[in-house]
Amino acid sequence: MANKFDEKAKHYDSPEQLALAEHFTKVIRSLLDGYQIDTIVDYGGGTGNLALGLADLAEKIILTDISQAMLDQAKQKIEAAGHTHITTQLVDETNKSIKDAYDLLLISLVLHHVPDYKDLLEELFVTLNDNGQFIMIDFYQDLEANYSGFDLDLLAKELESLGLKTVTKELIIEGDALFMRPQGKAFILQAIKTTQL
Ligand SMILES: C[S@@+](CC[C@H](N)C(=O)[O-])C[C@H]1O[C@@H](n2cnc3c(N)ncnc32)[C@H](O)[C@@H]1O
Repeated sequence: MANKFDEKAKHYDSPEQLALAEHFTKVIRSLLDGYQIDTIVDYGGGTGNLALGLADLAEKIILTDISQAMLDQAKQKIEAAGHTHITTQLVDETNKSIKDAYDLLLISLVLHHVPDYKDLLEELFVTLNDNGQFIMIDFYQDLEANYSGFDLDLLAKELESLGLKTVTKELIIEGDALFMRPQGKAFILQAIKTTQL
């Protein structure tokens, strides 16, 4: 079934979007410095820019999305780069969990689209390895502007209730027309799955 992201897929990789992905990738790499990561899940990975930017860090990357058109764009780029260790998986309401165990769950600019994001995270964290990482990029809550976003203190508490300790939460970018939001502000959050909370 087609969705609103299918329509965006062909034009998603604008120069602005590619520059943003390059910036995100740089920050993610700096947060992961010193950690051993074998398998990455890039949930809602879209056209694959982050997965491609992190390709050398892991033995296996699973790129999932609810949009087949986004995944088709990603597949073309993955094949052109010769990255046989990056695979794609279409997800939907009935099939969103990841069967394999993994070390890093990356979710960038996706969860503000997902009203029941806590249930989704709970499901995804089941196969995240102990001491595995969760990295999320999304928008700060902006009650005045009435856009969907996150209160970071609340999010950290929710993650704690799901067994993850937040180690970093900081501004990653702000701009006048970030994703068509006037004065848009996005954060990056890093959390670790641990039994010692
Ligand atoms: C703004 S794009 C971000 C793409 C990529 N993560 C990035 O940072 O460049 C949002 C992506 O999330 C996907 N998406 C939205 N809701 C989703 C859901 N419930 N499960 C999986 N993917 C979803 C969309 O199809 C789209 O590709």
